Amino acid sequence: MLQNRVAIITGGASGIGKETAYKFAAKGDRVVVADFNETAGQEVVAKIKADGHEAIFVKTDVSKFEDVEALVEKAVETYGRIDVMFNNAGIGRLTPVLDQKLSDYHSVINVNQHGVVHGIIAAGKKMRELGIKGVIINTASVFGFLASPGTFAYHASKGAVIMMTKSAALELAPYGIRVVAVAPGAVDTPIIQGYKDKGLVDSMKSKVMGNKLTLPSQVADTVYLLTLDEASAINGSVVMADEGYAS
Ligand code: NAI
Repeated sequence: MLQNRVAIITGGASGIGKETAYKFAAKGDRVVVADFNETAGQEVVAKIKADGHEAIFVKTDVSKFEDVEALVEKAVETYGRIDVMFNNAGIGRLTPVLDQKLSDYHSVINVNQHGVVHGIIAAGKKMRELGIKGVIINTASVFGFLASPGTFAYHASKGAVIMMTKSAALELAPYGIRVVAVAPGAVDTPIIQGYKDKGLVDSMKSKVMGNKLTLPSQVADTVYLLTLDEASAINGSVVMADEGYAS
């Protein structure tokens, strides 16, 4: 069934965001790929178009509110509306808390936490203004619930995403806008492929049922399901897409 909605996907140039862009496009939605990696983002858009679907790329640094506002404006200028805002861009830093450089801590918070704040505010205001009963989805993580050594800033950012999701859902419900979070576990994307400590990747893998990494397309499927009208009762919720990731 062709849906013809408009979905903005931040971090859409790679991993989970890229697979989500492909998923929405294949289902007939128009996709706005947002990322600060322009080359990779344009490649995603080119593939979507080659497959006969609609997409644009908007270079965006989610840590800057003015970029995210401009992103939302561009989506509306191009396609007339936004139905889905997927606040997904994220980074990881592996540093023990007492060795943490504050600049590294702030980088993680600026992208993973403030990037989501910016997306909720910019997209939420636009949906309210246009009277659109849309869905805002934020990427949390099992690390928003479970502590693991060496990822202090990441835990702080993802814990915040969980509570921001619940709080924003309460406030946006009167406008018919849902706010939900997806919490992946260990997903086979560049973010973890980049970890030099391969022991950590093996350890994460061993915590997933079946001792494997989850595919980014599996998380994309979950994100897509959460945007459907059939998911209308799921609001303020954190949906685990973690294949039973155990602490
Ligand atoms: P990835 O590294 O493949 O993709 C992240 C994307 O975000 C990249 O395209 C990157 O260019 C973009 N990005 C980073 N900073 C940005 C900024 N300031 N502005 C715009 N774009 C920016 O990683 P992955 O795994 O696809 O990550 C997506 C989300 O999933 C992140 O929020 C991550 O924390 C979360 N996650 C990932 C898990 C995993 O095991 N891969 C597990 C749990 C959560």
